[in-house]
Amino acid sequence: MGLPEERGRSGGGSGVREEAGARSRGRSWSPPPEVSRSAHVPSLQRYRELHRRSLEEPREFWGDIAKEFYWKTPCPGPFLQYNFDMTKGKIFIEWMKGATTNVCYNVLDRIVYEKKLGDKVAFYWEGNEPEETTQITYRELLVQVCHFSNVLRKQGICKGDRVAIYMPMIPELVVAMLACARLGALHSIVFAGFSSESLCERILDSSCSLLITTDAFYRGEKLVNLKELADEALEKCREKGFPVRCCIVVKHLGRAELGTGDSPSQSPPIKRPCPDVQISWNEGVDMWWHELMQEAGDECEPEWCDAEDPLFILYTSGSTGKPKGVVHTVGGYMLYVATTFKYVFDFHAEDVFWCTADIGWITGHSYVTYGPLANGATSVLFEGIPTYPDMSRLWSIVDKYKVTKFYTAPTAIRLLMKFGDEPVTRHSRASLQVLGTVGEPINPEAWLWYHRVVGAQRCPIVDTFWQTETGGHMLTPLPGATPMKPGSATFPFFGVAPAVLNESGEELEGEAEGYLVFKQPWPGIMRTVYGNHERFETTYFKKFPGYYVTGDGCRRDQDGYYWITGRIDDMLNVSGHLLSTAEVESALVEHEAVAEAAVVGHPHPVKGECLYCFVTLCDGHTFSSTLTEELKKQIREKIGPIATPDYIQNAPSLPKTRSGKIMRRVLRKIAQNDHDLGDVSTVADPSVITQLFNHRCLTIQ
Ligand code: PRX
Repeated sequence: MGLPEERGRSGGGSGVREEAGARSRGRSWSPPPEVSRSAHVPSLQRYRELHRRSLEEPREFWGDIAKEFYWKTPCPGPFLQYNFDMTKGKIFIEWMKGATTNVCYNVLDRIVYEKKLGDKVAFYWEGNEPEETTQITYRELLVQVCHFSNVLRKQGICKGDRVAIYMPMIPELVVAMLACARLGALHSIVFAGFSSESLCERILDSSCSLLITTDAFYRGEKLVNLKELADEALEKCREKGFPVRCCIVVKHLGRAELGTGDSPSQSPPIKRPCPDVQISWNEGVDMWWHELMQEAGDECEPEWCDAEDPLFILYTSGSTGKPKGVVHTVGGYMLYVATTFKYVFDFHAEDVFWCTADIGWITGHSYVTYGPLANGATSVLFEGIPTYPDMSRLWSIVDKYKVTKFYTAPTAIRLLMKFGDEPVTRHSRASLQVLGTVGEPINPEAWLWYHRVVGAQRCPIVDTFWQTETGGHMLTPLPGATPMKPGSATFPFFGVAPAVLNESGEELEGEAEGYLVFKQPWPGIMRTVYGNHERFETTYFKKFPGYYVTGDGCRRDQDGYYWITGRIDDMLNVSGHLLSTAEVESALVEHEAVAEAAVVGHPHPVKGECLYCFVTLCDGHTFSSTLTEELKKQIREKIGPIATPDYIQNAPSLPKTRSGKIMRRVLRKIAQNDHDLGDVSTVADPSVITQLFNHRCLTIQ
């Protein structure tokens, strides 16, 4: 990594902490010359040329990319048609309508037969225990997928049917999703950390006719009896008058009984002592995966689908109420995830890519399965967690497989930061070339630690802003082209036209803060909310006609860099001034004693709203009035007196969803001593809530 170059007005700067707080006035980090030299996009100028072309001639730009894929029949009519403006009629987006293809064919058959990469490893699978490993080549994966597609066909699954998948991170999960894609059936993957209630709700919403699940698995030390949860969900479905007729169960923990070499996609027998997990069996509904696979044939002709046919449904929580079934389609999604993967991680044939996200989330769909496979990449598929068996697990995996591109979430980085540098530096990490983050704003403190400690100052960091709804990256640096600013997702990807709007919907020019929207469709945009197109229109297009509304606030600095300031619903209004919770949290975690912080608005008789902060301290620090004074001073200095918090509470842990998102809605209630919490079924550890209620701040500090 080159030395940080001075930009803007910030002056000399004295040390990392100060840089971290410098925000838009801060320094930028040039792409390392050794990365730029071989990069697909080697300079900012080249990025700008390509970006301009992608907006001015979207049909030609994406049309050229589409030529790299296999199409059964070419696009007969317009390459792109859309309406983003509710006042002019129904919202719709169509890319390549009338062209036919198959996503599974493109990510497997095309790679094996056209690209001749059949013997290349598609996945290194690393189980929960470090000794549990296996690998699967593209050819082996194709064989497994054909077998399982035939299994599904035999069970009556046809094009357009919905199939629910509730599985841990094992190779069979990838096989199951690709088999659905081969048949043109829609997979609806439900993260295996979700409750039976959530699974039931999702099965019902899209009336799935079949469920694929697993006996049980370990997450670190914790045993999850998944089949039991699946049974509960199916029982609930039955009670609600919707009997799911078939449940296919992968024997994962119990696979020792199966012997080895059963199939290349199956991991070796579990080495950890296995408790006797009791699997209840529903005759007539439950079927073992391995038994069905033994009978299935090798050949399976893919179902040719329209580019605009749905590929999958993935549920995402709405800011209120019922989860939304986000629908992505065959052609556009395939093009978009393949292209973002190639450019954002600057993919080269010899790379070993690792995205730590669970496939149950969009990040896993796009950057564990579809994006890497569409490029013929080798990836790591990891079942475990970063802290098991110890804090250095991620870095030991990086060394084991010589991972070159590594993609994770800021919450994981902050978690590991708490344990210091040694668990990281114990491992070489010499193979790493590019680091990525996704899911939430990364505070500059965490960015700098990731860059300095994990990346040893030589790996660019791609801070990728996107959403379940967008299918792939929207704002992101390109590793060989974009000078990075810690905490900024920098610039739009190809085909993405962002704008910043004020409350009245006017586009703001230059340096500005407001609503982040997108002005024109990119191929990976969701097409509808499953079964509720009206909800799609009102959620994303109603507030500002003519724009896709992200629901996020953002700031554009004097250099045109975009900084996500957090969800609009996390914006605070203190004495008539808009403040973003992310901004205050970032200032708090820059203090050496603070590992993580969450800030919520709290009613205040004079200011309207004031700030109530929850802080989790790093090991070895204690909470005291001296510390709260230091933190307030820090915020005053970083942002201004307006942002001085009224309350700072010690929070040994924060309430989080299972995907690691801090539940600010719950924190707001705790701050107000309001025990009417609503639905807290998604909180990973409910005991955290009681603990925080017991230690509320009672007076303004
Ligand atoms: O608020 C933004 C935040 O995560 C939201 C999307 O969440 P989800 O649909 O669960 O998808 C997460 C993985 C793509 C966004 O509206 N977000 C995501 N990435 C970033 C981010 N906020 C800031 N910076 C990011 N890089």
